[in-house]
Amino acid sequence: MAPAPAVVETTTLTHNPALREPVSANTIYKEVYIGGPKAFSKDAELKGTGKQPPAKYPNYLPVWDAEKKYAPLQPFTHYEHGKDADPSFPNLLAGAQIVDLTANIGAEVRGVQLSKLTQKGKDELALLVAQKKVVAFRDQDLADLPIQEALDFGGYFGRHHIHPTSGAPAGYPEIHLVHRGADDTTARDFYQDRTNSITWHSDVTYENQPPGTTFLYLLDGPAAGGDTLFANQAEAYRRLSPEFKKRLHGLTAIHSAHEQANNSQSRGGVVRREPVTSVHPIVRTHPATGEKALFVNPQFTRRIVGFKKEESDYLLNFLYDHIAKGQDFQTRVKWAPGTVVVWDNRVTAHSAILDWDDGQRRHLARITPQAERPYETPFEE
Ligand SMILES: [Fe+2]
Repeated sequence: MAPAPAVVETTTLTHNPALREPVSANTIYKEVYIGGPKAFSKDAELKGTGKQPPAKYPNYLPVWDAEKKYAPLQPFTHYEHGKDADPSFPNLLAGAQIVDLTANIGAEVRGVQLSKLTQKGKDELALLVAQKKVVAFRDQDLADLPIQEALDFGGYFGRHHIHPTSGAPAGYPEIHLVHRGADDTTARDFYQDRTNSITWHSDVTYENQPPGTTFLYLLDGPAAGGDTLFANQAEAYRRLSPEFKKRLHGLTAIHSAHEQANNSQSRGGVVRREPVTSVHPIVRTHPATGEKALFVNPQFTRRIVGFKKEESDYLLNFLYDHIAKGQDFQTRVKWAPGTVVVWDNRVTAHSAILDWDDGQRRHLARITPQAERPYETPFEE
């Protein structure tokens, strides 16, 4: 069988003495190869290839600045703008068309230009996204603005996260890029070794203050394929029995950045900040809606604090299965030129889908404002 360089698995065991808990690779980190300096051809991107046109947004092409290192992130006070929003959304949705994608998660909006929103409109955006979990805004101009203006817009929602391993547009490390270049054959290689590409996770949950309202916008994409899956982690929590919820209350888990960093290094990528671990509650409360949501994922969660390994694996694997199989609290977003997808990373999980192999470029930019440190409010029957 041909080797499958597209997937790198690590089984690193790291000990964090401060936690007195080994961080073990309970569920093996699975990363669908999303490009890196070794796979990147600047020429093919700028000029196109025999089969593929040049990149539509060359200003957003990735660079990997191996020299630049960032200090550990420092705590900051997050202000949740969703708490200030008018829940009837007059500044966001007046004149707009909103359609729910499913009964439990997701909406699609037309007739709003996000970049033109007033402060009140942005407050309402934060609340709408917290309620719907993920909203696809069509016909947006965010990608066409100077990158700094896009960042200024997103910066309203929290401090910009700088991703430790991803490529970024030159001079804008706060932009996280998802890029697969023209003529890329990753999918063919990947499926030599794997049966599916699904990797449920919330973004960078190993940070002490993981992201909240998060923006991902399309620059270039295949005509079909590359949709994104989203799961409503609050509905996933509500589906559990009162007795089971009671058991989850008060539990915390270790989230680790080490496997992602190792994976980046192994494919010639960068590690811009030393990998960290954080301890977060398994159930967190949303500051604007008061909803509780599951907050574990197989990509970054490693171990329940105070449980023996088998106990931790057993409970985490149940929760991962519950989330992955819950098609009745999931949705699937199809991308189109001009689409900006906004989700609340605190109450959702998502997965990329690698399902096209005709070499069409896929290029997206993410603006990732960090939010509060996850917390859990008292248990209620
Ligand atoms: Fe993600």
